[in-house]
Amino acid sequence: MKENINTDRLPKHIAIIMDGNGRWAKQKGLLRAIGHENGTKSVRETVESCAELGIENLTLYAFSTENWNRPKLEVDTLMKLLVSSLKKEIKTLQDNNIKLNAIGNLTSLPKKVFKELHEVIAKTEKNTRMTLTLALSYGSREELISAVKEISDKVKNNIISSENIDESVINKHLYTQNLPDVDLLIRTSGEQRISNFLLWQIAYAELYFTDVLWPDFTRQHLYDAIIDYQKRERRFGKTSEQLS
Ligand code: IPE
Ligand code: IPE
Ligand code: MG
Repeated sequence: MKENINTDRLPKHIAIIMDGNGRWAKQKGLLRAIGHENGTKSVRETVESCAELGIENLTLYAFSTENWNRPKLEVDTLMKLLVSSLKKEIKTLQDNNIKLNAIGNLTSLPKKVFKELHEVIAKTEKNTRMTLTLALSYGSREELISAVKEISDKVKNNIISSENIDESVINKHLYTQNLPDVDLLIRTSGEQRISNFLLWQIAYAELYFTDVLWPDFTRQHLYDAIIDYQKRERRFGKTSEQLS
């Protein structure tokens, strides 16, 4: 229930591994593509609910670097769905004052997706209520490799010295440079793994796994996850006594 959420202790950053579209479709004897299509409804409901609650950052894992290995037809379907969703949802973003952001190896996306994505990012640039980040062609290891390359170039060119490399330097070289650490990571569909998502950024995130398949995920399930999060004690290495 929404009333059970303490709005003074909201997670600043929620990240979601939206999983289970294929199984949702299979259970109903439908094509996987229909599962993905229905998943977009859950995306809209989740985005709107987070904005209404006052969540400042929502990051959605929409397509991983490993997902390129799926059958071409499925990859094409997902890319088409992305373009149509971006076109359709620009209004939702504007109405709710939401800024769109994207992380991942974006240049590897089809031109149409890249173009539409950048259009929506530009149009929503000044929005302030919530930042919605889409992880597209995203892989955490790839992100870390690119950060290491950039940092080592800077060391080589005497822009930074190796002694000064600390957490903040690493943060600044990640795709998520402008985002706070993840507080709550949700994964749907019953799988309990990270699948190469935000490895650095979830160092102290609270993990929440639910059996609900992504197309069945509603605002109520989101509230349940936040209520569960608020019951936990985040100790960051300290003792319980130190916190109180
Ligand atoms: C998540 O659903 C969507 C993407 C990974 C793009 P899946 O397509 O992984 O669904 P399952 O895991 O096969 O059920
Ligand atoms: C993770 O889901 C990626 C996204 C949700 C976009 P997958 O379905 O690709 O993950 P694995 O392969 O089961 O680990
Ligand atoms: Mg899956």
